[in-house]
Amino acid sequence: MSVRVDTQHLSGFVGENEYKALAPQVKLAHEMLHNGTGLGNDFIGWVDLPTNYDKEEFARIKEAAKRIQANSQVFIVIGIGGSYLGARAAIEFLKSPNYNNMKKDTPDIYFTGNSISSTALSELLAICEGKDVSINMISKSGTTTEPAIAFRVLREFLEKKYGKEEARKRIYCTTDKARGTLKQLATKEGYETFVVPDDVGGRYSVLTAVGLLPIAVSGADIDALMAGAAKAQQEYNNADMFTNPCYLYAALRNMLYRKGKEIEILVSYEPCYTMMCEWWKQLYGESEGKDNKGLFPASVVFSTDLHSMGQYIQQGRRSLFETVVLFDKAKQELYIGNDPENVDGLNFLEGKSMSYVNEKAFEGTVLAHTDGGVPNIVLHVPDFSEESLGALIYFFEKACAISGYLLGVNPFDQPGVESYKKNMFALLGKPGYEEQKEALEARLHK
Ligand code: PA5
Repeated sequence: MSVRVDTQHLSGFVGENEYKALAPQVKLAHEMLHNGTGLGNDFIGWVDLPTNYDKEEFARIKEAAKRIQANSQVFIVIGIGGSYLGARAAIEFLKSPNYNNMKKDTPDIYFTGNSISSTALSELLAICEGKDVSINMISKSGTTTEPAIAFRVLREFLEKKYGKEEARKRIYCTTDKARGTLKQLATKEGYETFVVPDDVGGRYSVLTAVGLLPIAVSGADIDALMAGAAKAQQEYNNADMFTNPCYLYAALRNMLYRKGKEIEILVSYEPCYTMMCEWWKQLYGESEGKDNKGLFPASVVFSTDLHSMGQYIQQGRRSLFETVVLFDKAKQELYIGNDPENVDGLNFLEGKSMSYVNEKAFEGTVLAHTDGGVPNIVLHVPDFSEESLGALIYFFEKACAISGYLLGVNPFDQPGVESYKKNMFALLGKPGYEEQKEALEARLHK
């Protein structure tokens, strides 16, 4: 199995009967997902995406990545939410959070359009001065304000730097195949475009061009990434939660939620996993947090956060559980040397690897936290390869869908995200929002 689930640190928190009681509901959720009879069934294209994707476009993505690698020192990815997090998470996981500072023959990669900070965008423009730049604008709807503003600024920057003709060759757009302002603009200007399939929502789109082009530009192997996801598609295709770890994870979250655990903390012991936690938070938060229900997804990186959030987890309100993601093999290993004077008193660790120390940190923590009343689910992933990441992405996506169905929500919509947008448009004076503007301003300036 690509991802294994260890339940030993749940004993005393979840009983045998609870597993048995939930198994038929998991089977039902599986049938709803696979027969397309569940809520949001027009957004389940990701289920067989690892084996059923546009091969011609996939080849075009690899060609575009090679071109960008050859002609750019900086590659800028513009997008927000599902059009941003997966690519960044995969690059930091597969390469490094320090990717841009590493010695490499691929471009530096920056992400923008994921906030409305003028400082952040100005800094990026300054970084680009004197460098060759290409950009990838990603927006499924093609209308999201944050990336649209960044795209306008960066397009102007490229056109001033290279002239319209050359700039055109350096702009790549990933969007709907036919609809939306971005598609219209790309067609008018002649930018190369890639497609976000109709039936794949933003937060399930990392294995489409949305994630694949930036990941390929970083030099990671997207064939291997898809192969890992395809393996997971096969492995996690069975309705029985006792033999399908993906469904077991979904069921365990649901069992813990039903008994009052309201917060799930995703735990990693590797800093390169930090952005994967952000991707996971979006996936689960947007999929489940609705109809006044849902686990609140949080995350920590240990042992860093054992020196901050560790106190709360050990002794704060008992409304949380942890899901720990462990890797069986380190990406790179370091061994602790000998100091003849042993001034720091660390000679008892001589010859030990840092992974060994990290493992003991996990073991000590899991025992302390379970003693403190915090149930722990442990997920085991073989390594940091593209195959393992592809499988892990698929594992989390599928578990999320099953988990959403167990909760009785539509795991594929995000109606709540619209509320702030409507208010912001009204307050900015967007045509068509005149009435709301007046009402909102009256509330603000009471
Ligand atoms: O998961 C989602 O659907 C959202 O987070 C979107 O990805 C996000 O709002 C960006 O939307 P778009 O790609 O249309 O710009």
